Amino acid sequence: MSLALSASAPDFAALDIPLLVLALPSGATVDDTLNPLDRRVGGVLRRTLDRRDFRGSRDEMLHLSSTVAGMERILLIGLGKAEDRALALRRASALAARQAGKLGVRRMAFFGAGLTEAEAEAIAVGLIAGAWDFKELKTPPPAEERRDTLEEALVLVGTAGAERGVTTGIAIGEGHSLARRLGMLPGNICTPDYLAETARGIAQRFGMNVTVLGRAEMEREHMGSFLCVAQGTPQDPKLIVLEHRKGPRDAKPVGLVGKGLCFDSGGISIKPAQGMEWMKFDMCGAAGVLGAMETIGRLQLPVNVVGLIGSTTNMPSGTAVKPGDVVQASNGKYIEIINTDAEGRLVLADVLAYTARYNPSAVIDAATLTGACVIALGHTAMGVMGTDEMLVQEVLNAGKRAGEPGWPLPLWDDYKELIKSDVADIKNSGGRPAGTITAALFLKEFADAYPWVHLDIAGTAYTESDLGTIPRGPTGVPVGTFVEFVRGRTR
Ligand code: BES
Ligand code: MN
Ligand code: ZN
Repeated sequence: MSLALSASAPDFAALDIPLLVLALPSGATVDDTLNPLDRRVGGVLRRTLDRRDFRGSRDEMLHLSSTVAGMERILLIGLGKAEDRALALRRASALAARQAGKLGVRRMAFFGAGLTEAEAEAIAVGLIAGAWDFKELKTPPPAEERRDTLEEALVLVGTAGAERGVTTGIAIGEGHSLARRLGMLPGNICTPDYLAETARGIAQRFGMNVTVLGRAEMEREHMGSFLCVAQGTPQDPKLIVLEHRKGPRDAKPVGLVGKGLCFDSGGISIKPAQGMEWMKFDMCGAAGVLGAMETIGRLQLPVNVVGLIGSTTNMPSGTAVKPGDVVQASNGKYIEIINTDAEGRLVLADVLAYTARYNPSAVIDAATLTGACVIALGHTAMGVMGTDEMLVQEVLNAGKRAGEPGWPLPLWDDYKELIKSDVADIKNSGGRPAGTITAALFLKEFADAYPWVHLDIAGTAYTESDLGTIPRGPTGVPVGTFVEFVRGRTR
């Protein structure tokens, strides 16, 4: 069940809550805003801070118990010396909501002093992220062992602006949650059909237009590149298009494109067994598009946005594409298959070419595209490459605002040597050197009709270790970047 979140005035004298969370910066003291609260709990706050039992450093948590009815638990959580207070509050609120879940508390309130609209928004996003979990494929424990889960959270805010921030934050948080749920669902449940159904649900709820192409329709479009990946699986591949048209009638749309490999075994160039199960996350780009469209729909943003997803499953079989095969993409280009595990670029090639018919002003694609990106940038930053410097900067800024940092890599023609083919126009793998760049250069061949930026999210879309704020699994990247980019275009 998703968290019920609302804004409420910080009336410490009357507040009745099983868990109150106070976010405090480094070196915080009890000031006028905290005085009423401190009096109610008999001065425990002042004593704790005076004694320096809690110093407010980043991620620091101190749990105080009291005998005061309606205020039994107070959790102090540190913001550190934050450069970006909104991002620090988001982190703190995510940690707090996760902690509330561990305690088995049903309701909580979160307080930070003097919240701006952006900070209140960040808190809402953080609370939803921290409360998120994935239990739908586990048998619930017997009733007597069951703990309460966090169901309700109040953000204590004093202004109408901050209250608006909470509403916006809910929309963003729900987008993240959708993307994370889709990511976590295994490949036998989250199939291309499932993604198409999810898109239809979003379209219906928010008045968007949805188009779904299957194998037969893609054959008619001569999408030999996408289809060669899908020829090893009996599942029907799907090219999904969601159109949100709330901007000026004649305004060109923004295109958001996602790689939706519901499972990537590598195909004939099969991956090693060790860790192969992580490849259910190879649809996180697609999940990012759906999550962003969910948020954009909830916010009814006054822009035109087209979301496109290329979805299939990469499998070895008697009918699968093989190394050495040559296929022709819908834009006419011939591609030599060197490695069937470089499948994401083959799927995206036809989707990017198809995107041109929407005459977009800008297109951003997100894909868990290369292991090389994890080597280059680790799990901290997405790889960012594009054909338009201004657009690259705009996307980098959006990612920064969203707390999803990206870092640019050079998309120089010099690297094109690496993907020249002896028999075809281009080959789908340039081997290990500059693997993230050659993958992007491959995509560029199909994205020449509009300004375009590519996000390689292989290292950031999911985490293989617990991050404190986020458990093992999908992170919600790139929903925030997509949403911030689109919001940026409404300003
Ligand atoms: N989905 C993978 C990339 C990936 C690897 C994502 C690790 C997340 C973590 C992609 O389809 C792939 O297999 N890429 C190959 C390309 C190579 C064959 C040129 C890779 O990175 O090894
Ligand atoms: Mn692959
Ligand atoms: Zn892949």
